[in-house]
Amino acid sequence: MLNQPLDIIFPEVPNDIDINELDIDNLPTHVSIIMDGNGRWAKLRGKKRLFGHNAGRNSLREVVRCSSDLGIKYLSCYSFSTENWARPKEEVAGLMELFAKSILAEMDELHKNNVKIKIVGDISRFPQKTQDAFNKAVEMMKNNTGIVLMPAVNYGSRDEILRAVGAYAKDHSEQPSEEEFSKYLYTDNIPDPDLLIRTSGEMRISNYLLWQIAYSELYVTDTLWPDFDRYEYLKALIAYQKRNRRYGGV
Ligand code: FPP
Repeated sequence: MLNQPLDIIFPEVPNDIDINELDIDNLPTHVSIIMDGNGRWAKLRGKKRLFGHNAGRNSLREVVRCSSDLGIKYLSCYSFSTENWARPKEEVAGLMELFAKSILAEMDELHKNNVKIKIVGDISRFPQKTQDAFNKAVEMMKNNTGIVLMPAVNYGSRDEILRAVGAYAKDHSEQPSEEEFSKYLYTDNIPDPDLLIRTSGEMRISNYLLWQIAYSELYVTDTLWPDFDRYEYLKALIAYQKRNRRYGGV
C-alpha cells in the first residue's frame, strides 16, 4: 500500500518512463542494492573517492524515502564488505566517519518516517563512535513499524554462512532444513530479496547475500550510485515487474 500518492513520489517523470507501467499492487517486498560506483563517480570529477561516498549518501537517502513512500517493506544495501578493509586506510577511516555522521544526522528524520533499522553484518570491528551511532539508531527505532532499512556492514556472505554453520552445529547434530538454517543468518525473519539492483554496470555478486538471493531478480544498470535517483529506481521497479518469476517451476 502506498504511503504517498504516486504523483508526489514521482513528481517529474522523464519522457522515457511510462509511470502507468508501474503496478502498485505488485511491488517487491524486499529490495536489495549493491551501491557501486562512488569511486568512479568521484574520479570523473577529479575528486577523491570519499567525495563519491558522500554523494552516495544522498542517493541512499532518496531511495530510502522513495521505498518508504511506496510501501516497500524491506530495503537492504551493501555499505561495507568484509573485503573493504583492504582499501586504503584513509578511505576506510573516512567511511567509518561517514557512517557515524550520516546516521546521527538522518536518525530523527528516519524515525519520523517510522523506519526501523536492522544491521546485517558484524559491526564489532568498527570504531566505537560508529558502533555507537548504529546502536543508537537501532534502539531509537526498534518499535517502528514502517520500512526495515538493512545496511549490510562488515558483511560478507561466506563469512555469514560459516558463522551460521558454526552456530547451528553448536545447537544441533542433525542436518538442518533450509528454513532452520536460515534462522542462523543475519537475515533471520526477513524475506529473501525479490529484486537485487546493482549500479555501475559490474556483472557480479561480490560475496553479497549468496544464500538469500537464490531466486532474486537481478537488475544491473550502468548508472553510477551517486547518479541513481528515484527515476532510476522507478525504471528498476518497472523492469522487475516485467519478469516472469518461476522459482524453478514452469
Ligand atoms: C561502493 O562504491 C560504495 C561503498 C563501498 C560505500 C557505500 C556507502 C555509502 C553509499 C554511504 C552510505 C551510508 C550509510 C549510513 C549506510 P565503490 O567505492 O566500490 O566505487 P567504485 O567501484 O567506482 O570504486
